[in-house]
Amino acid sequence: MIVKDIECVNFRNIKKTRLEFSGTFNIIEGMNAQGKTNLLEALHIFSLGRGFRTRKTDELVRFGEEYFFLRINGKSDTKVEFGIEFGYEKGGKARVSVNGNRLSSLSDMIGIIPTVIFTPGDVELASGPPAGRRLFIDYTGAQISPAFLSDLGEFKRTLKHRNSLLRKISTGGGGIEELGVWNETFVSRGAALTRGRREMLSEIEDAACGIYSRIMPSGEKLGIRYRSSFYEGNDTAEDDLKEALRRVSQAELRRGYSLAGPQYDDIELSLDGASIRRFGSQGRKRLAAIVMKLSQAVVIMQRRAERPVVLLDDIFSELDAGISRKVRELISDRYQSFITSPKKEAFSDIPAGSALFAVENGSFSLRN
Ligand SMILES: Nc1ncnc2c1ncn2[C@@H]1O[C@H](COP(=O)(O)OP(=O)(O)OP(=O)(O)O)[C@@H](O)[C@H]1O
Ligand SMILES: [Mg+2]
Repeated sequence: MIVKDIECVNFRNIKKTRLEFSGTFNIIEGMNAQGKTNLLEALHIFSLGRGFRTRKTDELVRFGEEYFFLRINGKSDTKVEFGIEFGYEKGGKARVSVNGNRLSSLSDMIGIIPTVIFTPGDVELASGPPAGRRLFIDYTGAQISPAFLSDLGEFKRTLKHRNSLLRKISTGGGGIEELGVWNETFVSRGAALTRGRREMLSEIEDAACGIYSRIMPSGEKLGIRYRSSFYEGNDTAEDDLKEALRRVSQAELRRGYSLAGPQYDDIELSLDGASIRRFGSQGRKRLAAIVMKLSQAVVIMQRRAERPVVLLDDIFSELDAGISRKVRELISDRYQSFITSPKKEAFSDIPAGSALFAVENGSFSLRN
């Protein structure tokens, strides 16, 4: 997948701009707070339908304006050209059209442009709480499998309903007779999601081990394992989830929300068997997080037969030079990438065919 160009109107601090991109490296340079990350966020809209720094789409509208508009033109790896428009008016709903045809739901856009994004906060992937790792696996799945995306949506809706029912019961509002039926739905959808995640993660692990050893040829062995809060992989996931619900049923009725299920699952990352989260150095945590993202790109490419677009928000300044060079090599011969950097000297050896943009106060200019 290649994004050929973008047009942005009233997006964050970008008043109006149209940029043509290189199919390989696109480097965006500028001082702090000029709009580098804003451009990546605009590109990311076409991946998930929202910015990666906020869930509130209103915040993406330029201060003092009422709407934003984005349009990109791209080309798939099978050379099919396409155009996507994304319009949003404050307080309203996004209007998205692909090749001039309006989509009825924003979720129909997810996956059209497979995207891998890496931001400085992503080091949390290895060191932070489990929610970030669940999000990682769910975001991977959503981009490669409509079935996974649908299982995920169904599970989230069921969890929400079940939680509000438990809340009602716990506060004396009744409804216990409905619980049995919600338990059944919860078990089947929770088990489906767990299976999907485990499957996805085993593909990620294969890719990640290969990438880790390319970056660190004499390094430790990276391990990635799905740690279900209820499923050991022996009986069926349904049976295990049913059993887990039975164990927590009294506590759930008291506390008023679900206490078992895939919403408590985690991914365990290890080096030579030792948990990275507990024992890894800062540098190894950062590296493990990057390797996870690079593996996400590989798995997307394998499953979709389409190369994802890679967005790297100011990550090289935190990596040592050797690792930084290897990461760039792994990206440069495969993916179209968009790389932001506040430092000029960070890219002294810009590869041929790259585009270098400078940004100042939301205005971009091509420098090569
Ligand atoms: N909705 C908005 N309308 C107008 N300006 C906005 C909006 N949201 C953010 N900004 C402005 O965008 C700028 C930040 O842009 P961005 O995050 O892209 O900076 P950056 O170039 O990536 O900087 P850094 O190097 O610090 O990461 C800030 O000046 C902020 O005030
Ligand atoms: Mg930034």
